[in-house]
Amino acid sequence: MYLVAPAPARQAGLLGRHFLKVSDFSSGELAAVLRLARFLKARPSAEQRALLRGRTVALLFEKPSLRTRVSFEVAAAQLGAETLFAHGSEFMVGARESPEDAARVLSRYVDAVVVRTHEHEPLERFAAAATVPVLNGLSAQAHPCQALADVLTVAERFGEIAGLRIAYLGDARNNVAASLAEAAVMLGATVHFGCPPSHRPSESFLEQLTHLGRVSDGSARAFSNPVRAVRGVDAVYTDVWTSMGEERYRELNEALLRPYAVTEELMAYAAPHAIFLHCLPAHRGEEVSADVIDSPRSAVFDQAENRMHAQKALLVSLLTECKGFPV
Ligand code: CP
Repeated sequence: MYLVAPAPARQAGLLGRHFLKVSDFSSGELAAVLRLARFLKARPSAEQRALLRGRTVALLFEKPSLRTRVSFEVAAAQLGAETLFAHGSEFMVGARESPEDAARVLSRYVDAVVVRTHEHEPLERFAAAATVPVLNGLSAQAHPCQALADVLTVAERFGEIAGLRIAYLGDARNNVAASLAEAAVMLGATVHFGCPPSHRPSESFLEQLTHLGRVSDGSARAFSNPVRAVRGVDAVYTDVWTSMGEERYRELNEALLRPYAVTEELMAYAAPHAIFLHCLPAHRGEEVSADVIDSPRSAVFDQAENRMHAQKALLVSLLTECKGFPV
């Protein structure tokens, strides 16, 4: 079980690294961050204030956020670090100066930068020029911090990820689906995308998942029939049908994704112990019915809480040598 497998050398290897997508880490590194998250979650936050004392984490957000912003700010505070929050409109990275120059300047002031942005490519340029860790707080391509919390939540419920089956219903091309799938296959789970052909992940991404899953026996496949996607799975995940910035596709998405809404009827095809997951915010009556998201099977608020614990582990892993942790 990955929660007890020792991997101290791997953990030390994360010092100074970026986290732009889940697969920036190896399977072993990902498992080590999850072990650290569980270790920190089990201990009083008052004991953790020395871990990042004197550090500063900048949050540079071009899009709205509740969970990502607050969970990073509280995580940093509980670890003894300061945070500095700026809306994208304030710094205007990309318009007022290049991502490279902004990254070089911020690297002189702060110890890590969390960026929430529209396109992924400027984030890669920013990270390539930064000399401090850059963390993706959501881009068009990936939401890796969300995925850490997702797999942490599944691990808490089932003890381990390897061998589990996780269905993702809806827009399977979006950033949340991509990062969840990367994390799940890297930890040995099977991912079922339930989506119409219009919202299916690209063949190249499915091939990439096959490659990522090789080490841990994880795999992914897409089903156009929602019942086939969900049958017998241990967890059912969905997200809003229209991501931020994609509002022009709202009506089309609603028409195409309606058969993939997670309802009690669809959940009945999952395993009897199956849990429901959603990254939030949720639209009850659209991608999920109220009787599912508000049921005892729903783990969505554990997921939201776990954003904070997972990101604590991430910050400690990227900013320290993790000395003294039994991970
Ligand atoms: N799940 C998530 O990223 O939430 P926010 O957009 O509120 O940060």
